[in-house]
Parts: sequence; structure tokens; C-alpha cells
Amino acid sequence: MSTFSIMVVDDEILTLNNLKKALEKEGYEILLADSGERALELLEKFRPHLILLDLVLPGISGLEVLKKIKETDREIIVIMMSAYEILEKAVEAMKLGAYDYLLKPFKLSELKTTVQRALETLSLRLRVLEELEKEKQRYYFGKIVAQSKKMKQVVDIAARVAQSDRTTVLLQGESGTGKELLARAIHYHSPRAEKPIVAINCAAIPETLLESELFGYEAGAFTDARKRKTGLLEKADEGTVFFDEIGDMSLALQAKILRVIEDGTFFRLGGSQPIKINVRIIAATNRDLTKETEKGNFRSDLFYRLNVVPIHIPPLRERKEDIIPLALSFMDELNREIKRNFKGIEPAAAQAMMNYSWPGNVRELRNTIERVMSLYQAEEIQLQFLPQEIRQEIELPENKILEQIARGRELPTLYHLEKCYIKKVLELTGHNKSQAAKILGIHPSSLFRKMKSWKD
Ligand SMILES: Nc1ncnc2c1ncn2[C@@H]1O[C@H](COP(=O)(O)OP(=O)(O)OP(=O)(O)O)[C@@H](O)[C@H]1O
Ligand SMILES: [Mg+2]
Repeated sequence: MSTFSIMVVDDEILTLNNLKKALEKEGYEILLADSGERALELLEKFRPHLILLDLVLPGISGLEVLKKIKETDREIIVIMMSAYEILEKAVEAMKLGAYDYLLKPFKLSELKTTVQRALETLSLRLRVLEELEKEKQRYYFGKIVAQSKKMKQVVDIAARVAQSDRTTVLLQGESGTGKELLARAIHYHSPRAEKPIVAINCAAIPETLLESELFGYEAGAFTDARKRKTGLLEKADEGTVFFDEIGDMSLALQAKILRVIEDGTFFRLGGSQPIKINVRIIAATNRDLTKETEKGNFRSDLFYRLNVVPIHIPPLRERKEDIIPLALSFMDELNREIKRNFKGIEPAAAQAMMNYSWPGNVRELRNTIERVMSLYQAEEIQLQFLPQEIRQEIELPENKILEQIARGRELPTLYHLEKCYIKKVLELTGHNKSQAAKILGIHPSSLFRKMKSWKD
């Protein structure tokens, strides 16, 4: 952190000079003002981290100056200096947002510790703000790659629902499609952005633990409960709760969650006092909740409560236009992170990636790019860098395959050869599948199965 700057405001020149000397010794940068007017003038050009402000000033009073400072910049820490006789004024100053006060006359050691403590608080706050900013950046909508029409629609709905601060959102999509990314983007774009988002993975926490994690407990609620524990729901107050994998939550817990959603209250385990919270709920699942409801695995009343704004994130294979933009964006990110200098993707590799079905969706794509970039140093992602299951998706014309066989180089896999041959036969029969199956000498259902396996 750069050096801290302090402005000292006092009408006594001697005090100003003494404080300047003492604080400069501590390594701070010092600005001096001999009146409130002068202080406010300086404030237009400089923003000190901290201001030591005398309460009794000849022109505009210390309290007035304090008010103006706080109007200009709430983050500046103000420490009042006041004589004992006007202590009640110092109290008033604290109410107006002063951080602390020093009673005159004070020892220099006292000054140092007070200033130090204030600046520690400040650096902590700055660090928190910095972290928050980073977090925001990471989950900003701008970071979400959405080239396809389908994904653009998803982002558009999410951006709109983010603004309405209490609306419950249900995100559904296969594993790795970006549900968590979207949930966080919604939170950081909502009026609750400065408050926490608490993510609860309902599938990862054992059922028995989940309840105490969510609701917390009172001391003595059970044998091991020595101290009261605040639950995750309480921690999310005024912010967002993200129930991840909600489809995996037990029916018993579903009933309790329903109550929280319905009236915003719950009890700590072993508690008798209802706790009221104000949270926005975002839930996500890779299951089909409509089906789970029909099967009786998911409460329909909870489903309707959650399904206020449903957002379905389509699998990557249904929005192929996103594949290459996503790959390039991960490439940029990883170039920086692992110090590589990849510039693009060679056409054959891009084609194979486009043809592949990505059962693990965006996560699988990201992992693939990361693996390639950490194993190879090159300018382009080449076909040969890709794992076998993706490489085999490259469509070679038949004659190229035969040529390869003849030359005995880069022999195609059986899978690929078969796919090629079947496609040729289909072409020759005008896509008449039963006729094609006859020529191939297999049952039509096998043909269907094989054709399906190319897609997913
Ligand atoms: N549209 C996108 N743009 C950029 N990155 C994305 C996009 N979608 C997903 N990702 C990235 O892909 C990875 C997987 O996303 P995420 O964890 O949000 O998926 P998920 O749907 O929650 O998966 P799971 O169901 O397995 O928990 C993350 O690294 C995420 O940042
Ligand atoms: Mg997830």
C-alpha cells in the first residue's frame, strides 16, 4: 500500500508544526491547513486518507467542516481534536461520522496510536472493497460469453431480473453450463451487490448437517452445541442465497425452506425466537424439476415458489456458435494466468471442437483448453493437441481417409472410419435408413444408435 496522507487542521501554527514533525517521522505525508476554509479549499485538490480536525476554529466551526468533509467523501477518516471543556461537542462530532477524538492536550504517543488504529481500519476497508471489486469483475455480465441467440436471450433475462431485487430465480441446465456464473452475475448486478451472496450446495453437505448449517443453532440445542452458531441464511441477510443443486435437497428440508420463502422467517435449531431475514433466492439444478415433482421427489409447492422466473441454460451442443468464442476467451485468460502466448485455433482443431458434443459443457471446454495450454507451447491450438474423443470428430472426406490408409500415416480410428462409411452409405441411399442398414448388414436400431452416438 502507498503511504498514507494526513491533513492537519488547526489554527495554532505551533500545534500544526509539532504534529507535522511527529507524523512525518512515522512516514505519513502531511498537509496543513490553518482554518476550516483552507481545509475545504485543499480538499478540492487533494484527498487525504485521514484528517485531524480541531473542533474550535476561528471561521467556520470544526463541526461544520466535518459535515462538509463527510459530504465530499464519506471514506475519509476524521479524528477530532478537542479540549475537555467541550467534550459534548466531540460526542456530537462522533454522531456526524468522526472516527475518534483526541482530548487536548494529548501526548504524541497517544496521537500515534490513534492514527495508526484508524489507518489500520482504513486499509482493512480498502482491502475488502478491492476484493469486492475483483469479485464483481469476475462475475460481471460482460465476462459471460454469449454469441448464440439462445445464450443472448438468457443473459438478457438475467440482466433484467437482476434489477428486481426480491424476485426468485430458478436456473436449470446441465452440469457445467454456467449456472453458478449466472447466479453470481445476477447478484452483483442487483441492488444487493454490496451485501453477501451465500452459496449453499445442497448436494455436497450431508442432510443432517445441512439443517444446522442453514438455520444455525442455539447453545445447548444438541450435545455438541456449546455456543450459538449463526446459520448461512442469517449470514445472507439483505443479500442473496444461492441454493445450488436444489433438486438434491431432501423432502423434509424442502418443507422448511418453503416456510423461509413464504414468510421470510425461521428458527435456529433449539431456538424459540423466530428470525426474520430479507434475502433474494436464486436456486439452480441440473435435474428436470417438473419431472422430479411428478415423481414425488420434489415438493410441487416449493417448485412453484422457486419457479417465478425460470431460466433454462441450454447445453453447449445446442448453441455451437458459443464454442469458439468461449475457447478464445479462456485462451486469453489463460495466456495471462499461465504465461502462454497462444493466438488462435487452427481450422481443423476448431472444426473438431465444433463437431464434438461437449457432454460436460462449458466446464469441459475450459478444462480442455487449460490442459492443452499447460501441456503445449505454441501459437495455435492444433488438432493433435486435442484429446482423442474430440480429435475424432474432424470430418475428413472419404478419399482423404483412403489416402491416409494408403500412406500408412495418421491412420483413422475405427470409430471414424465406420462413421465415414455409414455416412457415405446414407448418402448413396438418399438417407433411407432401413435401406442403408440392409447394405451395412446391421439392424436399423443399431444404425439409429450409432447415428445418435455421433451427436451426444
Ligand atoms: N457463458 C460463459 N462465459 C464464460 N464462462 C463460462 C460461461 N459459462 C460457463 N462458464 C465457465 O464454465 C465453468 C463452469 O460454470 P459453472 O460452474 O457456472 O457451471 P454450473 O452450471 O454451475 O455447473 P455444475 O452444474 O457442474 O455445478 C466456470 O469456470 C464458468 O466460469
Ligand atoms: Mg454449479
